Amino acid sequence: MNYIGSKYSLIDFLETSIDKTLKLYNETRVPSQMIFADLFAGTGVVSGSFKKQGYSIIANDIQYYSYVITKHMIENNGNLDKDRCLQLIRQLNQLNGVEGFIYSNYSYGGTEGQDFRRMYFSDSNAKKCDAIRIAIENWLSAGSITKHEYFFLLGSLLNSIDKYANTASVYGAYLKNLKKSALKEMELVALPIMQGSVSCKVYNEDVCELIKHISGDILYLDPPYNTRQYCSNYHLLETIARYDNPIIKGKTGLRDYANQKSVFCIKGKVVKAFDDLIKNANFKYIFLSYNNEGLMSFDTIEKIMKKYGKYNVYMQQYRRFKADNARDCKSTSTIEYLHCLVKGTI
Ligand SMILES: C[S@@+](CC[C@H](N)C(=O)[O-])C[C@H]1O[C@@H](n2cnc3c(N)ncnc32)[C@H](O)[C@@H]1O
Repeated sequence: MNYIGSKYSLIDFLETSIDKTLKLYNETRVPSQMIFADLFAGTGVVSGSFKKQGYSIIANDIQYYSYVITKHMIENNGNLDKDRCLQLIRQLNQLNGVEGFIYSNYSYGGTEGQDFRRMYFSDSNAKKCDAIRIAIENWLSAGSITKHEYFFLLGSLLNSIDKYANTASVYGAYLKNLKKSALKEMELVALPIMQGSVSCKVYNEDVCELIKHISGDILYLDPPYNTRQYCSNYHLLETIARYDNPIIKGKTGLRDYANQKSVFCIKGKVVKAFDDLIKNANFKYIFLSYNNEGLMSFDTIEKIMKKYGKYNVYMQQYRRFKADNARDCKSTSTIEYLHCLVKGTI
């Protein structure tokens, strides 16, 4: 998924830097003896890569669509029958479209005669999305699929439908005409089934609360870097994931997101929230991804982390995320930092 702040292309950098730190501190335990927590999990790509290495994973995100995708990627192991999963995907792909919530509120045909005509998906893809979403829920209610299969199917729908969205990239706005990829007929594609430790757990909570109730060995933090809230930028994925017929407002059909606003996107609140997070973290190794254009300055981060133990930093040049073409980007790359703290060692 093309996601703001995704670490997909930085995985090597993260793995190498984390490995170097463990070696530097003579860590003798192997991955299968350690817990790795990824508490701003997003697409789950970082959790996934450490799951593959054999770590027990704790993943979390405040957004429900992220929880669904990560729940499949991280918690599903040998509990899924691959052939049956692919058969379910085939069945869903054959469904006829339904004029459900997504069609009626986010497609051009479905919003005819309404105050706002929206074009987030083609009429046909919106109907197909509704048909698949309704079927997945009905199958679960009827007991014809397991909870594990439910998250696999729903995660696959979220990941697939995103590729046909008629947006420049995020869901903060839609394009006036259907772009080439949005015109294509949507195909539901199965998310991979990843083998790993069986003791993995995924949460859907505010990290500021969750951190007080968990513990582990390696804590990876990848908070938002700026004021762009994920709840408003990905509101449509949230609604497809929840399918809760929300009251929506305005030109873009936003759902209420008051309880999902992140303090990490608020200039006056982020520094204290970050300090509290580090203070409350019951983990030995703590890593923070942040760039040189974030709300917190490099010096502020360094100062906070140094209060709690031994500090170090790794850096890498990184290609900028292109959210839309209209923005005036002064440079095409940023510096991506991985701040490291070994807690309790001074
Ligand atoms: C930079 S993205 C993470 C990207 C992720 N590492 C990846 O590679 O896909 C930040 C994530 O933090 C989540 N988030 C923001 N505030 C949060 C909070 N207070 N608690 C939990 N998750 C939060 C957002 O929903 C978003 O998915």
